Amino acid sequence: MAIRATLAVAVAILAGLIHVRSVSAEVEKRWTLPVPLPPQSVYLDPFSFAVIGENDTFRNNSVTGYFNPTNATAPFFQIFDPSFVTTVLGESPSIQSIAYNPGFAFAHEAPIYVPELDEVFFTSNDGGTLGYSNWYNNSVVGKISMTEVESAVSAAGTTPANVNVQVTELPLADTIQMTNGGTGPYYGNLVLVTSGRALFPPSLALVNPNPPYNVTVLLDNYFGRQFNSLNDVKIHRQSGNIFFTDPTYGYLNQFRPAPGLPTQVYRYNPATGAVKVVADGFNKCNGVAFNPSETVAYVTDTGVSGGFEGFDQTLPATIYAFDIDPLTQAFTNRRVFAYADAGVPDGIQVDSLGNVYSGCGDGIQVWNSEGTLIGKFFLNSTSANMIFAGPGRLVILDETTIYLARIQAQGIDLAYP
Ligand SMILES: *[C@@H]1O[C@H](CO)[C@@H](O)[C@H](O)[C@H]1NC(C)=O
Ligand SMILES: *[C@@H]1O[C@H](CO)[C@@H](O)[C@H](O)[C@H]1NC(C)=O
Ligand SMILES: *[C@@H]1O[C@H](CO)[C@@H](O)[C@H](O)[C@H]1NC(C)=O
Ligand SMILES: *[C@@H]1O[C@H](CO)[C@@H](O)[C@H](O)[C@H]1NC(C)=O
Ligand SMILES: *[C@@H]1O[C@H](CO)[C@@H](O)[C@H](O)[C@H]1NC(C)=O
Ligand SMILES: *[C@@H]1O[C@H](CO)[C@@H](O)[C@H](O)[C@H]1NC(C)=O
Repeated sequence: MAIRATLAVAVAILAGLIHVRSVSAEVEKRWTLPVPLPPQSVYLDPFSFAVIGENDTFRNNSVTGYFNPTNATAPFFQIFDPSFVTTVLGESPSIQSIAYNPGFAFAHEAPIYVPELDEVFFTSNDGGTLGYSNWYNNSVVGKISMTEVESAVSAAGTTPANVNVQVTELPLADTIQMTNGGTGPYYGNLVLVTSGRALFPPSLALVNPNPPYNVTVLLDNYFGRQFNSLNDVKIHRQSGNIFFTDPTYGYLNQFRPAPGLPTQVYRYNPATGAVKVVADGFNKCNGVAFNPSETVAYVTDTGVSGGFEGFDQTLPATIYAFDIDPLTQAFTNRRVFAYADAGVPDGIQVDSLGNVYSGCGDGIQVWNSEGTLIGKFFLNSTSANMIFAGPGRLVILDETTIYLARIQAQGIDLAYP
């Protein structure tokens, strides 16, 4: 067996599949990249930037200065590990913009794909400058048709072609204030969490994705107390329970009163109406997602980004992983899964192979299930979230732009039942 393994390695070296590099007395084996590189991509061998040296340029601001040593023009794919090509991008990925409005951050968060309609829903920025929403003004939930995107792209002829499809705004009831998170569909409905606005309470709500877009609020308080400003939501499909996060951004972005609860993660049981806390101890918990077998929960902590308090790079920009306790569904065994090198990891999605995607300061960053950064969808600007819109289509929200990346990966199913 050992001889056979040694022979296999020798054959692989001869075939050029493995580079052997000598470091002192040690020998390291590394896989080479598939050649040629996929289009619109740059490979950054971690060894190539492991040492910078005293006279070169270091980054000292993770919020405004991104890691792009080759100065490639965004958008492009930044590859740190060959598995980003073999498990995420595939051989012929592409990335293009599909909707654009430079004057309005219409595409901030709460991305939901409804397969029956082939539509992607999202919400505008709540509280940020280009969101035009604040203590006095609500944010806006909109949608685009992916069918329309496909015909616009075909009509444009070239690949990838930037197109600009129409965004349709949803006329929602006043109970929906400052939407920030979304998932589903849940029995065909959009699941939204709202941050609330002024004295309007934050809420967990179902929205009909078809006209008249009627709303049913499932929950808007914790035993009579308002939540701070709900941020993100996912359904744990095996149990049917809905998990959501409650950081303090409503207050920090000056559209909600001072927070009255810790920043924590809740579980709502739609069968009984019961609500309980499953995790706390965050600076600002934000995105939430489960691994493909739903035994692990991921929660992002966007501590660095503090609204009117500014940025503090010594706070978390961190994805934590937890086990889900089989009895209580409390998030246990908290450990650091990844620390984002640019901005903060915000919304989070998982593909069918267990790779973890999060919207960060420089675009979408992707880690394998071991928590190693394998690549980025480098946009050179902050993305809060993204959604798989059917196999091979990743729709990325970038505030004033929506991108479509065509890749090999598929998202896990987020629908219930
Ligand atoms: C950095 O610059 C200083 C001053 O010019 C020089 O003395 C030193 O050798 C340089 N270091 C490296 C690693 O190039
Ligand atoms: C960060 O780097 C910039 C550009 O090199 C420099 O002007 C600035 O003083 C640095 N700031 C800190 C806090 O080191
Ligand atoms: C990238 O741009 C910076 C700033 O313009 C420049 O100093 C640096 O040499 C460039 N790097 C490459 C690899 O072109
Ligand atoms: C990234 O954005 C900054 C600020 O807008 C700009 O100066 C820089 O050229 C951009 N870099 C790339 C690679 O697009
Ligand atoms: C509210 O939004 C409207 C248009 O969307 C804008 O004209 C108005 O200035 C906004 N009000 C505030 C207080 O931001
Ligand atoms: C919307 O209204 C229809 C018709 O009354 C109802 O069947 C459906 O449950 C409602 N959906 C939501 C999300 O409120």
